[in-house]
Amino acid sequence: MKKVILLYWGTGGNVEKAARQVYSMFNPEIIDMSDVVSFDVDKLNNYQLVILGGSTIGAENWLDAKADNEWNRFFRKIEKLKVFKFNAAFFGLGDQVLYPDHFVDGLGIFQEEMEELNIRVIGQWPVDGYKFTDSDGAKNGFFYGLALDLDNEPELSTQRIAAWTELLAKNI
Ligand SMILES: Cc1cc2nc3c(=O)[nH]c(=O)nc-3n(C[C@H](O)[C@H](O)[C@H](O)COP(=O)(O)O)c2cc1C
Repeated sequence: MKKVILLYWGTGGNVEKAARQVYSMFNPEIIDMSDVVSFDVDKLNNYQLVILGGSTIGAENWLDAKADNEWNRFFRKIEKLKVFKFNAAFFGLGDQVLYPDHFVDGLGIFQEEMEELNIRVIGQWPVDGYKFTDSDGAKNGFFYGLALDLDNEPELSTQRIAAWTELLAKNI
C-alpha cells in the first residue's frame, strides 16, 4: 500500500507545477497524487501522510471561499470521517511582492481546519529568507507548511521543495 497522498488544487497552474515537483521527490512506489476534486475522501485513511497543496487567492476570497471553494468542500467531507489515521503536511503558493501583508494566508486556513479535527501537522518551515510583512500562514517564525513563491522566486523552489520533502520523509 502507498504511504503518501498528495492532493492539490489551484487556479492558474502554479500549484499543479509545484505539486508535480513535490511528487517527483518521492519514490513513486510510496506516493499517489490527485487534484482534490476527483479524490475520494473515504480513501484518506489508507495513507500515513496527506500532503495538501494550494494557493492564496486573496484574503477576502478565502473568507468568501469558506462557502464555495474546493478546499472547503473537501474539509466538510473529511470531517465526516470521524477517525483520522494520517498526519498532514501543506505547501502553499503565494506572492510576497504583491501581497506582503497576506503572504500565503491560505496555509493558515489549512492549519485551522486540521486543528479542528485534531490531525497532526508536520513539515513546518522557517520564515527565514522570505520577505513579507504579515501572514496568517505563519506563527513563531515558522510557516505551517512550505511557502512557495513561483511569481518572484521560481529559482528557489526546487531547493526548497527538496529540503522540505526530505524533512517529511524523516517523519512518515
Ligand atoms: C486575485 C488574486 C489574489 C491573490 N491574493 C494573494 C494573497 O492574498 N496572498 C498571497 O500570498 N498570494 C496571493 N496571490 C498570488 C497567488 O497565490 C500566486 O500567484 C500563486 O502562485 C497562484 O497559484 P495558482 O495559479 O496555481 O492558483 C493572489 C493571486 C491572485 C490572482
